[in-house]
Amino acid sequence: MMTTEEAQRQETYIKQIRMQNDLEKSKTSKQKHYYIATFGCQMNAHDSEKLAGMLEQMGYQKTDQENEADFILYNTCCVRENAEQKVYGKLGYLKYLKDMNKDLIIAICGCMMQQDTVLNIIKSKYPHVDIIFGTFNIYKLPELLQTYLETKETVIDIWNEHKDIVEDLPSIRKYKFKASVNIMYGCNNFCTYCIVPYVRGRERSRQPEDILNEIKELVADGVKEIMLLGQNVNSYGKTLKDGISFAQLLRKVNEIEGLKRIRFMTSHPKDLSDELILAMRDCDKVCKSLHLPFQAGSTEILKKMNRKYTKEQYLELAEKIQNTIPDIALTTDIIVGFPGENEEDFQDTLDVVRKVRFSGAYTFIYSKRTGTPAATMEGEVPEEICQRRFNELQEVLQPIVYEKSQEFYGKTVEILVEEKSKNKDSYLTGRTDSGHLVHFEGDTSLIGQFVNVEIIEAKTYYLIGKLAN
Ligand code: SAH
Ligand code: SF4
Ligand code: F3S
Repeated sequence: MMTTEEAQRQETYIKQIRMQNDLEKSKTSKQKHYYIATFGCQMNAHDSEKLAGMLEQMGYQKTDQENEADFILYNTCCVRENAEQKVYGKLGYLKYLKDMNKDLIIAICGCMMQQDTVLNIIKSKYPHVDIIFGTFNIYKLPELLQTYLETKETVIDIWNEHKDIVEDLPSIRKYKFKASVNIMYGCNNFCTYCIVPYVRGRERSRQPEDILNEIKELVADGVKEIMLLGQNVNSYGKTLKDGISFAQLLRKVNEIEGLKRIRFMTSHPKDLSDELILAMRDCDKVCKSLHLPFQAGSTEILKKMNRKYTKEQYLELAEKIQNTIPDIALTTDIIVGFPGENEEDFQDTLDVVRKVRFSGAYTFIYSKRTGTPAATMEGEVPEEICQRRFNELQEVLQPIVYEKSQEFYGKTVEILVEEKSKNKDSYLTGRTDSGHLVHFEGDTSLIGQFVNVEIIEAKTYYLIGKLAN
């Protein structure tokens, strides 16, 4: 297979760099370290796991101290302007690190790099960046690094479209017991505000056998929970010859022995089928949570956003899901201040929030992205109004999220224990099936296990539990 061939070609570069690193280590007795900063969504987080996997095979070890790294990689996001600003800010600091250590290698990749304007800014203002690549060729990191080591000249490799899906990349996952699995790449929806289709390319699905085999291998390696990833999982399989639907894929994944929990994101409301709702209801491993972004409540704004559903259709869909799977936790994404949004439109957004009663929501102020259709639309909403609507939205949303959280009070729920709590000593953190965070007192030996906890306190964004028998 073409794709495996490419992975093998990179293998030879991996071995070459590893040999050089080993040789140097035997001379200087110093271990080389890498540092990766990941911006943006789960797609990027998952790409970073693969990049880390390759770096470790090349003989680098992970460090969380940027100033101790020999190789620094930024995996960037451009979905909103502030994501880009963060990267530019940090690139300035890297200049300082490079001045201190001439051997430091700086690489930058990800969605931002797929935009010509950004590439030109990096080339002209940040010449201390050594390696630049995009979203379609992350598997080429070993080759790019080897080229840089040989030439010591800036290496730039950005493709405009994807070629093959390269399978079998090594990967380092953050948790031993949970993992993400790409089921598809790219997006064909072209919501008018969104840059993702331009920087991640056209939609393409992985073969079901490749997905199922990857999950089986992960389960054999200790994984209990998986997250199936795609910009719009509901259209999974549509680009495959004799493909299966996402609902059919879920049913197959559900049969994998040893796997305990299945999550997925993201679902576009326009093609969430009855077949999928039934699969979610029937499959015992599929978690009772669904992220279903509605973006805006007004049908007119939804039309301008090219979302392909009306306010009423969204409400009906949400109701159907809640009726079929009564204890499901719905979460969503909301944008305020899209061009042309007036007060009445905004009230429609609040209305949807009140009617659906979400368990959680990511809320954003519209950010203009050059090159998208919305960037040239009339009716830009002034910043103060965006801010006011954003605040008003929180005021409506938060009490609802709090009330949904309160429903857990006094109940005993099963959670997968993930890590030590960041805020409180001797506390651990886990997640319920519905995706709610639970902090509870317990021994670190429980990490990676399923335990039952009784919920003794319910806050807006987390629950407090105590171990139950
Ligand atoms: N594919 C996913 C979302 C990807 S981007 C989906 O369709 O649901 C994640 C979220 O960022 C989007 O749901 C949207 O709410 C937000 N977003 C995307 N572009 C944006 C922009 N230009 N301004 C503000 N928010 C944006
Ligand atoms: Fe962006 Fe829309 Fe595609 Fe989501 S579905 S990635 S919001 S274009
Ligand atoms: Fe950002 Fe790229 Fe994800 S733009 S949100 S990292 S697909």
